[in-house]
Amino acid sequence: MFSNLRSLIFKLDPETAHNLAIKSLKFNLIPNVLEKDRNNPLFKSKLFNIDLENPIGMAAGFDKNAEVYNSLFKLGFGFVEVGTITPFRQYGNPKPRVFRLVEDEALINRLGFNNLGSKNVLDRIKSNKQIGLLGINIGPNKDSVNRLKDYLDCFKTFQDVADYITINISSPNTEDLRSFHDQTKLNELLNTINKEKQNLGSKIPIAVKVSPDINNREIKKITEVLLSNSIEFVIVSNSSDSTRDSLNNIQKYQKGGLSGKPIEAKSTKLINEFYKILDGRIKIIGCGGVDSGKSAYEKFLAGANYVQLYTGMVFKGPNIVNMIKKELKELLIKDGVKNFTEIIGNK
Ligand SMILES: Cc1cc2nc3c(=O)[nH]c(=O)nc-3n(C[C@H](O)[C@H](O)[C@H](O)COP(=O)(O)O)c2cc1C
Repeated sequence: MFSNLRSLIFKLDPETAHNLAIKSLKFNLIPNVLEKDRNNPLFKSKLFNIDLENPIGMAAGFDKNAEVYNSLFKLGFGFVEVGTITPFRQYGNPKPRVFRLVEDEALINRLGFNNLGSKNVLDRIKSNKQIGLLGINIGPNKDSVNRLKDYLDCFKTFQDVADYITINISSPNTEDLRSFHDQTKLNELLNTINKEKQNLGSKIPIAVKVSPDINNREIKKITEVLLSNSIEFVIVSNSSDSTRDSLNNIQKYQKGGLSGKPIEAKSTKLINEFYKILDGRIKIIGCGGVDSGKSAYEKFLAGANYVQLYTGMVFKGPNIVNMIKKELKELLIKDGVKNFTEIIGNK
C-alpha cells in the first residue's frame, strides 16, 4: 500500500508530509500495518532491565511532541524516543527546513528543535500512558543564556515519566550545541545531571547522543567522560554535517543535518570505534541509515545492542519494522544463532 502512496506523498513538501503522517498515526488511519511475528525469541532482549520485544527503536525527531508514541509501538517498534524537547516552546528555523533527497535515500533537516516545550509535552505523556519503552530526548532552547540549566530543568521534568532520558549534545541545527562534546564541558554537564539524579533518588538510565562527525581522539575523550559518569547508554549517532559532494540530489548542499543511507557506513564505523573502547561497559544504540534487515544486522555486528531509525521510515513506510524483522530473521537463522545478542560485536 505504501509503495502506491509514496509517489503521491513525495509530491508534498517533506514537513507537510510528516505532519500528515503524525495526524494519520494519531487518528489511527494506518489500519493495515500491525506488528507481525511478535514474541519471537530471536529478537528478545532487555533495555535498562525492561523486557524488550525487539531491538528496533524509533529515533528522536519523528515524534517531537510525544503525540504518537503508542501508535508507533503498535507498528512494532520495540522502543520509542520522543523529542528533542526544550524547556520552552520554540518555533525552530524558518521554513522550508526539511529536504528530501530521493535519489540518495536521504533527508537534510535544519528544523532547530521545533517543539511545544516541556510542560506541554509532560501533560500529554501523563495523560497517555506508554504501552512500551519510552525514551525522552532533551536539549536546550536556542536563546537560552544557561544551557546547562535547560538540560537540568528538562531532566527534572521528565525523570519520573520516562523510561530513559537522552541528553542530546549533537544536533547540528542549534548553534554551538556540539561544543558539549568537549571533555570538560561534557563532564560538567553529566556531573550536574548525575548530582540531580542522586538528589531526587532517581534510578532513571541516561543515554548521551553523539555526533557522527567526530574523530578517534574525540571518541576516546568522550568515552572517558561517559565511563567516569556511569552513563548507561550512548546513541551513535545523530545526523551529519559531512560533505555532500558524492550525493546526487540537487538540494545536497542545503544547510542542515544529513540522515539516511549516505550516513549509514559512517555511523556503523563509529559504532565499532565506540564498541572497541567500551567493550560492553556502556551499551550502544546504533542509529544512522537503518532501513533493512541487513543494515540493522551490520549495526549489531559493529557492536550496537539496539538500533534506531527515522529516515528509513520516510522511504520505506510504516511497515518498516515488520520488514526489518523478516529480513533480520533470515540472516540470524543462517548464522545459526538463537538470539540476535549473540552477534553483537562479531565484526
Ligand atoms: C527530520 C529530522 C528531525 C530530527 N530531529 C531530531 C531531534 O529533534 N533530536 C535528535 O536527537 N535527533 C533528531 N534527528 C536525528 C535522528 O534521530 C537520527 O539520529 C538521524 O536521523 C540518523 O538516523 P536515520 O538515518 O535513521 O534518520 C532528526 C532527524 C530527522 C531526519
